[in-house]
Amino acid sequence: MLSLYIHIPFCASKCAYCSFNSLPIDFSDKLIDNYIVALKKEIDHYSVTLMDKEIKTLYIWWGTPSRIWVERIIDIVEYIATKFDLENMAEFSIELNPSPAQEVLDFVKKLNHRYAKFPRVRFSFGIQSLDDEILKTVWRAYSFVGITDFLRKLVHLKQDNNVFNFDFIAFGKFHVSKNGTKQLRHDFNREFFQKFLESGRADSISLYTLEHHENSKRYSDLIGIENWKLSLQDERIEDWKWCNTYWEVESLRSKDQALSSDENIMEEFIFLKDIILHAWFSRYEISNFTKASKASIHNMVYRNMENYLGLGLSASSFLPMTNDQWLMTHVFPSFQNSIVPSFWTRWTNTADMKTYLEGNRVDEKQVQTLDNSDLLIEEFFLSLRTREGIADIDKFKDVLIPNYKWLITNYEWAWLVLFDWTKLQLTDEGMNVSNTIVTELLREI
Ligand SMILES: C[S@@+](CC[C@H](N)C(=O)[O-])C[C@H]1O[C@@H](n2cnc3c(N)ncnc32)[C@H](O)[C@@H]1O
Ligand code: SF4
Repeated sequence: MLSLYIHIPFCASKCAYCSFNSLPIDFSDKLIDNYIVALKKEIDHYSVTLMDKEIKTLYIWWGTPSRIWVERIIDIVEYIATKFDLENMAEFSIELNPSPAQEVLDFVKKLNHRYAKFPRVRFSFGIQSLDDEILKTVWRAYSFVGITDFLRKLVHLKQDNNVFNFDFIAFGKFHVSKNGTKQLRHDFNREFFQKFLESGRADSISLYTLEHHENSKRYSDLIGIENWKLSLQDERIEDWKWCNTYWEVESLRSKDQALSSDENIMEEFIFLKDIILHAWFSRYEISNFTKASKASIHNMVYRNMENYLGLGLSASSFLPMTNDQWLMTHVFPSFQNSIVPSFWTRWTNTADMKTYLEGNRVDEKQVQTLDNSDLLIEEFFLSLRTREGIADIDKFKDVLIPNYKWLITNYEWAWLVLFDWTKLQLTDEGMNVSNTIVTELLREI
């Protein structure tokens, strides 16, 4: 079976932290229709090149999907249904920015009505924060009051086949009192968060730590400040102390630290994670928490390294090449006269809209063939991120450092892992430092 990922890169405006390939656009722009035409051509292309047409999950990634009308989504899904087999599809999932609220509510209602017979329709709403100041700083177009009103109305639209997921980001913003103690800024926001989770209306929660991506606006703001500071360090700082610019830099820097130092981000993450766990969600993956049997099936396709095909700008695919050598020579014409290696392949589509619209979809610089050792590294990394962890550590011995069992025992003493000499699982604390653990255990990454 195959899973499909569809990337629709249009947003009402660009959020400050976002590094995804998405364009702020006027929703009447002709570009949207041209993009859907190009997307359908890509669907056509794979529907004739791929032998496996049975779809397991369909995931639509969208900047601000509500804004380009539900009919367009339905049109894309129906088009896929004419080319692939959706009969046994386990999950149809879509991401939504919850603003503008009424448009999103109408969107959910219409999509639910249309797909009431699908076994599962999963909506993932990007709430991100309940703090008005953060929402404003990162340019989200709603407030705490707006979002609570939205959630109250949303829960009435829920039908039996729905899974509602809510995304949050730990931005690391605390109120620091005069005696140095830190608190999340608004108690009533935390209380609402707690009550909402305990109400049973949410099926799953994704909680991320804020990442500074190079091509996001927030990152460039930070870099701007850092460069400014660096240029000052060449001078004698003491002499600058009384200078306006120095204080401006310092005030920006401390404001920024209050917002997003790594330590604050992790502290807020742990704080929010504990509230989520208290509300009886189980942590099935580093950033994902769920009620029984509500975990995202599509996410597990990635984690289990099953086949997936990504369509649209910047979308990635992961398929075994052996089954589809014919596909390879069609997707990557430059391979035509060379020996096609019989490994798994990952490739990513171009990030350039013009190139994509012209039908030059695959970015040949981003085609990666994975041999057995690459696959093992990836399996190790992905399995360790999950609650189940790794069933048999020795399977990975060729890619792990020679004394891996000794190091794992040290982690066990530090309460970062559970280990019985075969099965390896991260504890909650271990999940918070999983990247370090993986990097230290692997021979190379
Ligand atoms: C595809 S994105 C955006 C979904 C939707 N467009 C929205 O804005 O609500 C999916 C999730 O990734 C998370 N995310 C995006 N950028 C992030 C960043 N820089 N750091 C941490 N999490 C991020 C957000 O929680 C977001 O809801
Ligand atoms: S976070 Fe979502 S709405 Fe904001 S710019 Fe990124 S994709 Fe668009």
